Amino acid sequence: MLSIESLEVRYGGITALRGVSIDVKEGETVLLVGANGAGKSSLINAIIGVVPTCGGTIRFKGQDIGALSCDRRAKAGVGYSPEGRRVFPRMSVADNVLSGAFGLGRKRQQEAFDWLCEAFPILATRAHQPAGQLSGGEQQIVAFARAMSSYPPFLLLDEPFLGLAPVWIQRISDAIRQVQKRGTTILMTEQMARPALKLATRGYVMRGGEVRRSGSVAEIRDIALAEEYL
Ligand SMILES: Nc1ncnc2c1ncn2[C@@H]1O[C@H](COP(=O)(O)OP(=O)(O)OP(=O)(O)O)[C@@H](O)[C@H]1O
Ligand SMILES: [Mg+2]
Repeated sequence: MLSIESLEVRYGGITALRGVSIDVKEGETVLLVGANGAGKSSLINAIIGVVPTCGGTIRFKGQDIGALSCDRRAKAGVGYSPEGRRVFPRMSVADNVLSGAFGLGRKRQQEAFDWLCEAFPILATRAHQPAGQLSGGEQQIVAFARAMSSYPPFLLLDEPFLGLAPVWIQRISDAIRQVQKRGTTILMTEQMARPALKLATRGYVMRGGEVRRSGSVAEIRDIALAEEYL
């Protein structure tokens, strides 16, 4: 579904990604682990098109999307939940979630919202409250629900567990399992390798802007856990 080859990203003189190649097949949940500054967000941001690349290719469903705008990539089916649970703080919870369901008709928007409320009852009980008033874990649910509200076939999750208490890590994990059951293909980054390894089928370990190791969850478990404490 996603095939990245020899990707290079630089910020001025800083090289953030160096010859990164990864693949995600349909139906897989693939994990990118690595310490702070490894290049995880740079890779995600290059895929959604907010960070320019200076080499390599990004193919999605067989099409080279490297020259497409962010908007066209989203419409092609690339969903994204940002690092740091970014929500629109003054907008209501419901409007935050539905802001992700652009382009769907009203009926499908309502369907999406109903499904998400069923999965996360908090969206219903807090629907009209400004999202900025919610706790960190609750805001992460809102950010995740926004990413899911357009039913993207492919979902990018940038550190969905960052800064969350174990009970919220559990809830977000359950949510990810639900979208896996719907057949969604996922590429997620996480420093917290332990809970993320339970969700993934395969993974890549990044360090210093490069992929250092790849393999099944069993194959990368030890190095991923060691990387967590760097
Ligand atoms: N906008 C930017 N301008 C300059 N340098 C940047 C920028 N964004 C990231 N970097 C640098 O690029 C490298 C990779 O950063 P990136 O955010 O991709 O890592 P990460 O693996 O997501 O880290 P974290 O776990 O802290 O989120 C780091 O050295 C970082 O300082
Ligand atoms: Mg990051």
